[in-house]
Amino acid sequence: MAKIIVNASRSVGTINPNIYGHFAEHLGRLIYGGIFVGENSDIPNVNGMRVDVVEALRKMRIPVLRWPGGCFADTYHWKDGIGPKESRATIVNTNWGGVTEDNSFGTHEFMELCRQLGCEAYFSGNVGSGTVQEMSDWIEYCNMGGISPMSQLRRANGQDAPWNVKFWGIGNEAWGCGGNMTAAYYADECRRYSTYMRNYSPDHKIVKIACGANALDYNWTKTVVEHAGHMIDAISLHYYTLPTNDWQGSKGSSTEFDTKLYYETLDHTLFMDELVENHSRVIRVAGKGKKIGLVVDEWGTWYDVEPGTNPGFLYQQNCMRDALVAAINLNIFNNHCDTVMMTNIAQVVNVLQAVILTEGDQMLLTPTYHVFEMYKNHQGAQQLECYAQTRMIGVESAKVPQLHASASRDEQGNILLTIANLDESESCPVSCLIADAAFTSVSARVLAGDPHAHNTFDSPENVVPVEFAVTVENGEICAVLPACSVCAITLKA
Ligand code: AHR
Repeated sequence: MAKIIVNASRSVGTINPNIYGHFAEHLGRLIYGGIFVGENSDIPNVNGMRVDVVEALRKMRIPVLRWPGGCFADTYHWKDGIGPKESRATIVNTNWGGVTEDNSFGTHEFMELCRQLGCEAYFSGNVGSGTVQEMSDWIEYCNMGGISPMSQLRRANGQDAPWNVKFWGIGNEAWGCGGNMTAAYYADECRRYSTYMRNYSPDHKIVKIACGANALDYNWTKTVVEHAGHMIDAISLHYYTLPTNDWQGSKGSSTEFDTKLYYETLDHTLFMDELVENHSRVIRVAGKGKKIGLVVDEWGTWYDVEPGTNPGFLYQQNCMRDALVAAINLNIFNNHCDTVMMTNIAQVVNVLQAVILTEGDQMLLTPTYHVFEMYKNHQGAQQLECYAQTRMIGVESAKVPQLHASASRDEQGNILLTIANLDESESCPVSCLIADAAFTSVSARVLAGDPHAHNTFDSPENVVPVEFAVTVENGEICAVLPACSVCAITLKA
């Protein structure tokens, strides 16, 4: 029998709610159609935002949303997206399908979306093709409360009070689509941009997030932190899970895969643990004592697009395999909450590992959505040390632990224990020892299914969480975790 040991008297810190963040790029059917349909749409909306999507994201308790890219951010000139819609610039989205972008969703619409969602905004600024002045003006436009050229412009466009946007990214993937810069060159640019990124209120200090590394490019992190660390609050990291690990060839199908690809996908996603640990170490050493956070602002699965869809739109299905990927990554982030201050899964609706898919007026919640919803009480809770004593399973090329877990305790003393059973076909009897904590009652939910199981518009509730029976024996919580499942156990104080 496998064993989970939770040590309630040891913790690395508080799980920042923003670890459960999301990402919305102007890409494919994410913004247009997926979230924003316009006030005149037949699809029920409030100020142009889909009611069904906003309600679902609120229920999942979305804490923060990154926007407008991605690669799009380094082609985005924010002044194109303000003012009367009929006079906004029409541009070409050169990164994603070459489609026309009419800028009808801009700064005011994004802030209205965040208002409806009740979440923080995270703006990704344009370093690749923008200017320092543009970035500086954008912050002044959003955050200046008094009289200034940009705050007056904002007022003229209908918004009196400043929004006090907290999170500002200094470019995106500057090593690639964001300008193909070297780390040293970017570090200098980062210092220059940071100089003019001002605070407009002592009560609302901005958080400056430098563009970080791709996967295991530790040299990028080291160089940027060594040279610009004193002028930033955090640095990002991007790491996508590809079943094949082949960026040039086929990335694999979202729904059709064999046992080997299943375990290889999970193995590739488990690499996040090593990346977070190593980048955190590099940041600590290169930062010379300054606390600089790690923001994993793009992560998730990336497959070939669904057959027949626009290759530039990155639309993919989402099945139980993705639920396990989400569970593993969220467990990893919880367990590294001493250094990870935010993460943003890519991307929120209709793109890559989306939590929501839409088709016209239809909407479905993916298995990944259900994992975020089942994990939501980890937000703001105190991480607890958690160890899975479990066997290794898998195939020759990819050995993974059968169980993967994390735990936390909220302010009321309730403990949430989340466990994924990675085994493709075998259930797993487990007993969970909760050391140094008392509880009065236990309840659990489980999300389970064949690794290929997914929701469709015809069958949107094929994969949903259900109540799950656990027993308490000699003070330990006992259960049989179904094959390929994610389980959330709540212990009431
Ligand atoms: O999420 C899709 C793309 O992946 C983003 O635009 C870019 O930052 C990354 O390469």
